[in-house]
Amino acid sequence: MARALAHSAERPRVLCFSGASNPGIVALCSEYGLGSITQPEAVVSFGRMHGATLAVIGPEAPLAAGVADALWEAGIPVVGPRQSLARIESSKGFARELLASHGIPGNPFFQRFTSMDGVDKVLTQFANRHVIKDDGLAGGKGVKVCGDHLHSMEDSVGFCRELVSQGHAFVVEEKLEGEEFSLMSFCDGETLRHMPAVQDHKRAYEGDMGPNTGGMGAYTGVNQKLPFLTDEDLLQAQTINERVAAALAEECGAPYQGILYGGFMATREGVKLIEYNARFGDPESLNLLTLLESDFLQTCRAIVNGSLKEVPARFSPLASVCKYLAPEGYPDQPRKGDPVLLPTDLPKGVTLFLSAVDVKGHTLVATGSRTVAVVGIGESLNEAEIRCENAVRMIPGPFFHRSDIGTERAILRRVEHMRAVRQI
Ligand code: AMP
Ligand code: GLY
Repeated sequence: MARALAHSAERPRVLCFSGASNPGIVALCSEYGLGSITQPEAVVSFGRMHGATLAVIGPEAPLAAGVADALWEAGIPVVGPRQSLARIESSKGFARELLASHGIPGNPFFQRFTSMDGVDKVLTQFANRHVIKDDGLAGGKGVKVCGDHLHSMEDSVGFCRELVSQGHAFVVEEKLEGEEFSLMSFCDGETLRHMPAVQDHKRAYEGDMGPNTGGMGAYTGVNQKLPFLTDEDLLQAQTINERVAAALAEECGAPYQGILYGGFMATREGVKLIEYNARFGDPESLNLLTLLESDFLQTCRAIVNGSLKEVPARFSPLASVCKYLAPEGYPDQPRKGDPVLLPTDLPKGVTLFLSAVDVKGHTLVATGSRTVAVVGIGESLNEAEIRCENAVRMIPGPFFHRSDIGTERAILRRVEHMRAVRQI
């Protein structure tokens, strides 16, 4: 986001307020403040001190903490929804119930619980095909899926009891079968500008094995399509985002101004909702903002002014593949402190983004999470993948990445899986 803003034709002064120092972002900014991004006063005071005229909020925690509300009150317009609207991400139950109460298609069976009352009945009804979700934000650790993390009724009951004992509400829902994709839309409260659909890879290892992560990489296809999705699937997802934005405005009495991120599953019964996020996806944003050809700052202004209708968002028709390098042991026991050596000459069509890194002395070091993202673009997915993979291999050290993301073989597997799911 910092890069896309810095590249605007307006040549804005970019300010960043963050919990950590990211040298990639520091290089783009005229001011870089360190502090607690979930403390509204801290963010407002940084913005005021440097004369900010627009704010763009990245992660979910400040949105859930009401940082957008505080900035608006301080006269600083914000890309990123207010606290009540951000419930679309911060409460899984709220999102499901919003769809249900507004007659928006896409929900699987679901039920929200605050105690063990009635849990057994639902777990039995959907034996071996349920998903249990902590209702609140849990940094990707609050969701357990039958077959993946839950292998018996005891596992499921145990997880529910754990959530109850922590005082957390939770949702039990039907497990869906299909291929996942993300559809993000710029939204000014009324008009939505849809971005190309992206497929993320949450699992740590090749072939979608291993623990869940923040996302190991993502790809988009040529002409803004994904090879396993039909035009009808895309249209269904776009319609769900549009109806959700309208439902949110009605429910909360305020416009949703920001990025609305629908996490969907294409299934035999059409497109179903997995979850909503109230922000850009990571890594999906790296693909999308690399492909964005129109001016990001202009889109941000239109989001806060409510004039998105007059501002089209234009994306390149090229394909893109993004892969993260992560330290060995990530996500459970990552190595920390290893030096990160970046290539001086990047091949054509490749962009690097620094993530969990710090500068110690004069050395760039990994801090224990996803470290560097490499985005390759090309005339075909194959070309984008090869460019990305070749650049990833130029970065030495005890890091790993998923070499399968975006490969012809992996894409074919997705297409065949979808064909089997649709039974055609
Ligand atoms: P979430 O945090 O809601 O995105 O869930 C994390 C992951 O759990 C998703 O990316 C899916 O792979 C999986 N998941 C969540 N809900 C369902 C569902 N109803 N059916 C199948 N898989 C699901
Ligand atoms: N790519 C998943 C997320 O940003 O939550």
